[in-house]
Amino acid sequence: MIAAPVIGHRGAASLAPENTLAGIRKAAATGVTWVELDATLLGDHTAVLSHDDSLERCSNRHGQLSSLSSLDLGSIDVGSWFHLDWQQETLPRLADALLQCQSLGLGLNLEIKPFQWPAQTIAEVLHETISVYWQDKSRLIISCFDLEVLAAYRALDKHIQLGLLFDDIPPLWQLQAQNLNAVSIHCNWQLLMEKEARQIKQAGYDLYCFTCNSPADAARLYSWGVDGVFTDTPQDFLNPAADTTSEYLISLTSPDPL
Ligand code: G3P
Ligand code: MG
Repeated sequence: MIAAPVIGHRGAASLAPENTLAGIRKAAATGVTWVELDATLLGDHTAVLSHDDSLERCSNRHGQLSSLSSLDLGSIDVGSWFHLDWQQETLPRLADALLQCQSLGLGLNLEIKPFQWPAQTIAEVLHETISVYWQDKSRLIISCFDLEVLAAYRALDKHIQLGLLFDDIPPLWQLQAQNLNAVSIHCNWQLLMEKEARQIKQAGYDLYCFTCNSPADAARLYSWGVDGVFTDTPQDFLNPAADTTSEYLISLTSPDPL
């Protein structure tokens, strides 16, 4: 397995504002060893963390990210919508998020959100930022719902670990994975069937599911061979009473004593 059984989704989205530097720190504090974050571009091609193409849901401002430049970053509060404790959080540059993850020893699944950007443009800009700010490629998976973006990224980097992101797994998933020389399949856990999970594992790919906030549901997925789940609630998975994460996960997947 490349990533981990428990991956903090958008940082730790139930504990801190999503896709923020504070959220990354909060995720690390729960004990997760990997996080998932969403990346896109401002209008001036500055790479930032954001799940959305607009500021409406997760900030104190209105408008499209494409209308902003790096000069706006320091004035956009992306924390107080979640709780006033985080009102100092500003829209983070991807570069700072990459540094933050590495300083905490976290592996990263970076999901590209292309929105209106041409595949080539967003792949080139993100590749440039990642090349400068990320060191260990074995601790990074780039994923995207858009295969064209992944193909553009692959053309720029033969060795980057790519993950195909699906809601529902399409019939041609294996051909698509082979064409991109991908390492992993990421899918919606609620649409995944056991047979598909076993086929993906049999074919040698890592398999990660979003967004699973119930340890009991995750236990069923692990029993099908799923390697890891993206969760907003990593604190519910990483039980301090168990000595290790794997001990806790084994306890989840073990049958109840008679
Ligand atoms: O990368 C897994 C998951 O984050 C994909 O869905 O909408 O939460 O970015 P979304
Ligand atoms: Mg995501």
